[in-house]
Amino acid sequence: MRVHNAVVLVTGANRGIGSALVTAFLERGAARVHAGARDPGTLAAVTGQDPERIRPLALDITDPTSVTAAAATAPDVTPLVNNAGVHAMGHLLEMDLRDVETVMNTNWLGTLRVLRAFAPVIERNGGGAVANVISVGAFAGTPSMGGYPASKAALNALTQAVRLDLAPRGIDVHAVFPGPVETDMLRLTTDALPAMGDFPRASAADVAAAIVDGVEAGADEIFPDAFAREIGDEWRRDPKAVERRLAGLA
Ligand SMILES: NC(=O)c1ccc[n+]([C@@H]2O[C@H](COP(=O)([O-])OP(=O)(O)OC[C@H]3O[C@@H](n4cnc5c(N)ncnc54)[C@H](OP(=O)(O)O)[C@@H]3O)[C@@H](O)[C@H]2O)c1
Repeated sequence: MRVHNAVVLVTGANRGIGSALVTAFLERGAARVHAGARDPGTLAAVTGQDPERIRPLALDITDPTSVTAAAATAPDVTPLVNNAGVHAMGHLLEMDLRDVETVMNTNWLGTLRVLRAFAPVIERNGGGAVANVISVGAFAGTPSMGGYPASKAALNALTQAVRLDLAPRGIDVHAVFPGPVETDMLRLTTDALPAMGDFPRASAADVAAAIVDGVEAGADEIFPDAFAREIGDEWRRDPKAVERRLAGLA
């Protein structure tokens, strides 16, 4: 879909890839960007770029009341980027189960909740696009990454399922698989798993620009950085090689 003049919603827009996405959509001529954040007070630096076109939006994707209210406050959305996500390191058989629940509840169920609220909004506006920010981590279960790879694999399956449901409603659905991106989340991961530090990292700005390119190109799968493209190619050729490489990080 064309981003020029569109009204966009980005979840988790106060930092990291989400904040870079707000900038990228503005640069491509979006008419307005609703910047979703659990605490809109954290959006000052983001909205300060262009207070006319960036609207702060209170949105906690794990809170049904917050999601319903956001859909009423932002009734003009056509592209939606489900970017908000969390990570908690640990081994599944030993870590605090509440951390696993938070990761699944946010990355999978929270994204589904936003989709259910906003699909009718996008449809009423004549159709548009949804981009779900997954991860190359969806392709293998790295032992020390707790519930994160499973949450992203589940999000990939959700993305494939709703693509078929939403196509007749005029909504394109994109699966985004970034590799390591310089953000707070990556720092949390590499602190606990130094082997991750050997992987090349992309900047949030480059990844955001590639996501907007993929939405405009109508790509089902978007691999927005060089490492992601390498993993994507390998996964198509030899999924076991990807498992050895990512799960083998330990
Ligand atoms: N960085 C990477 O290497 C990488 C690689 C592949 C995929 N990804 C994915 O990219 C997305 C963005 O990650 P990032 O690297 O930018 O991480 P980040 O810097 O940790 O930012 C995460 C964002 O999600 C928001 N968020 C968390 N829980 C939320 C909730 N319940 N409701 C609404 N917003 C919530 C956070 O808001 P608060 O400030 O309120 O916590 C923050 O804005 C995530 O889905 C992540 O899994 C990241």
